[in-house]
Amino acid sequence: MNTPRTLGTPLSPTATKVMLLGSGELGKEVIIALQRLGVEVIAVDRYPNAPGHQVAHRAHVINMTDGAALEALIAQEKPDLVVPEIEAIATDKLAELEQAGKITCIPTARAAQLTMNREGIRRLAAETLGLATSPYRFASSLEELEAGAAAVGFPCVVKPVMSSSGKGQSKVDSAADVKAAWNYAAAGSRVDSGRVIVEGFIDFDYEITLLTVRSLGADGKVMTQFCDPIGHLQVQGDYVESWQPCRMDPVALERARDIAAKVTGDLGGLGLFGVELFVKDDMVWFSEVSPRPHDTGMVTMATQVQSEFELHAKAILGLPVNVAMKAPGASAVIYGQHEAQGIAFEGVADALRVPNSDIRLFGKPESFARRRMGVALATADDVEAARVNAKLAASKVKPVVVK
Ligand SMILES: Nc1ncnc2c1ncn2[C@@H]1O[C@H](COP(=O)(O)OP(=O)(O)OP(=O)(O)O)[C@@H](O)[C@H]1O
Ligand SMILES: [Mg+2]
Repeated sequence: MNTPRTLGTPLSPTATKVMLLGSGELGKEVIIALQRLGVEVIAVDRYPNAPGHQVAHRAHVINMTDGAALEALIAQEKPDLVVPEIEAIATDKLAELEQAGKITCIPTARAAQLTMNREGIRRLAAETLGLATSPYRFASSLEELEAGAAAVGFPCVVKPVMSSSGKGQSKVDSAADVKAAWNYAAAGSRVDSGRVIVEGFIDFDYEITLLTVRSLGADGKVMTQFCDPIGHLQVQGDYVESWQPCRMDPVALERARDIAAKVTGDLGGLGLFGVELFVKDDMVWFSEVSPRPHDTGMVTMATQVQSEFELHAKAILGLPVNVAMKAPGASAVIYGQHEAQGIAFEGVADALRVPNSDIRLFGKPESFARRRMGVALATADDVEAARVNAKLAASKVKPVVVK
């Protein structure tokens, strides 16, 4: 039987220590949730003063794709739990250390391995679990991609197998455009694996993230709970708006939960997962899954009794969670709009004058035009009103370059 962790005192011999691999805006909120439970948190990222670094007990800067560097830091810090927050990590090293009994990886090292590469998770979902997905092929050359695109049909979507946030991803309408998509994917890949997936384009009515939590029940057994579905809008493969609850056909919701239970059940372990699904009428397709909090789930900081970050923090410690909602709400992303270090944000007061709104500024040291620097949140009597107010609040925040 699994038991909840006993929580110690940070910075003392009894400390419960958690190491975050990746310390962006999502990691920062997980860290804050852990801090509230008196957990000692070690934040790791590839650049100094990352958002999570600023709220952790200790901060480290390493290249997390370097297995030796990762192993050395783990040996030095001896965390009780290792919590990947991003995909670009030496996951084979995590698997090796987990196998040797040297770490507990959240949710499991295998989940981190499978989800860092689109091929791993897609083959698991479609071929092993038999879940509905878009038709797909993998390709390692332009010729293979041309054949793959012809097989899945047009329009289709080409993505590097190792990329996130829409990087290197493009929609292809005809055979004449395949070469441009191949070149674009090569430029946007996280590692130059030269491998892509081509997926048939799903003409969905809407897409959702179904936050799914695996936590310990009173009987010590793992139980699976679902948050209310989150609807979201993506532009260039990056989320710009999300809202909860997303109204759904009851049959589609049932299917969505069934898919989420199967895929998270296979990945295993404890924690929160973001299951991305496409929906048309009562049909549901699995798209991908994050074995960790999801960017579109930032809305839960306003809408749920426990945000996705608190749910993750509690679940990984073996503690019970509450997935109930508080109010309908929405989130809208605040982009940097400038390429500069140390930008400032005007208009925050105006944003907070929007009824039932709130703001998070992530504290990223460097801004890019399309870098997510903050998020506006709003609740209302219904999702439509919340979306209007979240967007309004976001629009009031004006990033400026200070000369
Ligand atoms: N086969 C498809 N059919 C239709 N739309 C798609 C398809 N694949 C991706 N998209 C659109 O592109 C978005 C991003 O795709 P996907 O989630 O695979 O990429 P990503 O780079 O991992 O993005 P993120 O990291 O933001 O989740 C999807 O949310 C969806 O809006
Ligand atoms: Mg996605």
